[in-house]
Parts: sequence; structure tokens; C-alpha cells
Amino acid sequence: MKGIILAGGTGTRLYPITKVISKQIVPIYDKPMIYYPLSILIMAGITEILIISTPRDIGLFQMLLGDGSHLGLKITYSVQNQAGGIAQAFIIGERFIADDSVTLILGDNIFYGCGLEEFLIQAAAERKGAMVFGYLVEHPEDFGVVEFDQFFNVISIEEKPRYPKSSYAVPGLYFYDSQVVKIAKRVKPSARGELEITAVNNVYLEKGELKVRLFPKGVGWIDTGTYKSLLKAGNIIESVQTIQGIYIGCPEEIAYRKGYISKDQLLSLGNKLKKTEYGMYLIKVAEGE
Ligand code: G1P
Repeated sequence: MKGIILAGGTGTRLYPITKVISKQIVPIYDKPMIYYPLSILIMAGITEILIISTPRDIGLFQMLLGDGSHLGLKITYSVQNQAGGIAQAFIIGERFIADDSVTLILGDNIFYGCGLEEFLIQAAAERKGAMVFGYLVEHPEDFGVVEFDQFFNVISIEEKPRYPKSSYAVPGLYFYDSQVVKIAKRVKPSARGELEITAVNNVYLEKGELKVRLFPKGVGWIDTGTYKSLLKAGNIIESVQTIQGIYIGCPEEIAYRKGYISKDQLLSLGNKLKKTEYGMYLIKVAEGE
């Protein structure tokens, strides 16, 4: 299983914050936004990761994460020249995906909470078809919306429908088998000129190969599309970390717990950030406290 983080887009809804910098570099409390989706892929057991961003911003991600070897990962980079839609990620990533299955996570989606790791590992173990998730929200019309029956058979999946058929939004985390590249190449651009991820999911639905799952009760999903949700995300992360002493979106810790890096490697990463609580936390984890 390969992993793609899509960190493109112009971020116009967050101007002027994102006028000169990628949205996915903007901090959510104590770390850059991309640390959160990166952590999710590592949790799922994915070590080969492609980061896609704009020509303007790709260099920032390269500076931040390098080739990933400090985390025991293999990270590569590709550019999305125009905002051609989420599904374009599979066309850009064709050679990277090759014949493998692939997980796509949007660089601005934050997931956290109890039971997430086991859940992700299970999702990544599915070999056939596609899997999306449903998350109850107040304003489903702002998202992809999935409708399903009591047995979790998907009935419909629609992109930002004016009249949503359910209150379940589809978060930006998707698992696909290797057919996805072929399917993405086949879908037609939507009215807004984009290759919609929902169009890809609809092809899987027509083939009877689209599954939907709900996250375990303790798992939260935060969208970071507006100033308010950005602040809310930061506040949630701060509270959980301060109250529970557990860090969210800490790729170094997850890589260590997965055995991708050694205790000494983690200590050295922590020592480089020693002036911060984040660095001290890494040292504590390495020392087994
Ligand atoms: C995208 C997808 C949408 C999904 C959302 C999750 O929308 O098109 O289906 O629900 O991400 O964050 P966007 O936020 O890019 O408009």
C-alpha cells in the first residue's frame, strides 16, 4: 500500500494567511498542518509516500520532510501545475502507485482519537475496491455526502449537493485498489473544471466496489477550511495535548512506535528540538516515560 498526501490548492479561502505560503504548512497549534495527515499514513503502516503540491510550494515540503529517511520512510514529491481536482493526484502519481493499492489523504484533514490506529490498519488491509468514511456533520452540503443503508451498503455519493441525502460527510481520506489510476483517467471534469474524487468514487459504486465505514466513536475529524475551523483545530490539539499529555500528529513518535526508527534516532530528533515542548516530548517518548 502506497500513500499520497495532496497538499495543493491556492488556499484562497484563507487569504491573506495563504497568500505566499501553502495552507498545509500553516501551523495547527505546535506543528505544520501536514504533520497530521502524514501521521495518519504512518499509523496505517504506509512507508512509501508521495507528496503533491503546487510548483510554488513543493520546495517547502521538501525542506520540511526531505526524503523521509529520518522517519524510516521514503518520501517523494510531485507537482500539480493547476488545480485540476483531487482525482488528478492519481494521474500525477501513476508511476508512484504502479500496481499497488493506494491511500489518499488531503493535506488539510485532521483525524485524531482513540482506536484510530487499529481502524486504519484494517482499512489498509482491504485489497479490493475502494473505501470511504462517513462522518456526521451539521452542514453536509459543504462536503462530499454519502448515503448508505443499515448494512453499510452505499446508495449514493454526491459532491456538495444542495439537498444532501444524508448528514454523513465524506472526509478526505480514501483507500483504493490499483484500478484507481485507470478510473481517474476516465472521469470527466465537473462543472468547476475539476476531476472530482466523488466522480471516482461513483465509478467504484457503479461497479459495486465502494465500501463505507464509520470511524470508532472516539475519533474526531476536523476540517481546516476557514479561519474559525483553523483556530478550533489548534485549540482542540492544544487541549488534548495539555490535558492528556498525548501528542496528536507527531510523525516521529508514530514512526518510533512502529519500529521504523530506533530509540537513538528518536532521541537525536528530540534533541534537535530541545528548546520546545515538542522536542521534550520526543525525548520523553524515547526514554519510555
Ligand atoms: C474535498 C472533497 C469533498 C470532501 C472534502 C473533505 O472538498 O471534494 O468530497 O468531503 O474535501 O475535506 P474541498 O474541501 O476540497 O472543497
